[in-house]
Amino acid sequence: MNRTHWPPIMAALGMVSAVAYAVDTDEIVKYRRNLMDANGGLMGACNAVLQNKVSDQTRLAGFAQALGTLNRNIATQFPPGSASPDSDALPDVWTRRAEFERRAKDAESKASVFGKTPSAAAFADLSAACKGCHKDFRK
Ligand code: HEC
Repeated sequence: MNRTHWPPIMAALGMVSAVAYAVDTDEIVKYRRNLMDANGGLMGACNAVLQNKVSDQTRLAGFAQALGTLNRNIATQFPPGSASPDSDALPDVWTRRAEFERRAKDAESKASVFGKTPSAAAFADLSAACKGCHKDFRK
């Protein structure tokens, strides 16, 4: 490779890493909101089936299992430095980390129970865990 090509290449790499860093937080926020939207969609669908508003019993087990998977280690989607004007996460997510992680673990275990046994009672427990975290940690 011709040596004279190095300075522009280095400059290009510098630019790329600066852009990649900026894009990263955006991507994390977008990704975790997608996960949360999926949580909301699946919970809404389960609720409709459990309350017999629709007759689509065959899908309930799959939705419940997906919720079990979705809520594993959810706190890792809120890494330090991922606060953003586009995010509805309160600063408390990072300043009261132990409590946030406790809420996340609580939702994870409730989602796991619901995933294995998609009963109305297990659904209510999971729903309470979602709301408990939102009350303290979401704008
Ligand atoms: C450990 C805390 C926690 C738990 C548990 C949790 N959430 Fe969230 N949720 C948040 C936070 C924080 C946000 C804001 C995320 C952001 O904007 O960066 C959020 C955002 C959302 C949103 C809005 C997403 C968007 O596009 O703005 C929905 C819908 C949602 N959550 C549904 C749920 C449901 C349903 C559950 C339970 C199955 C749940 N969440 C469990 C903390 C939690």
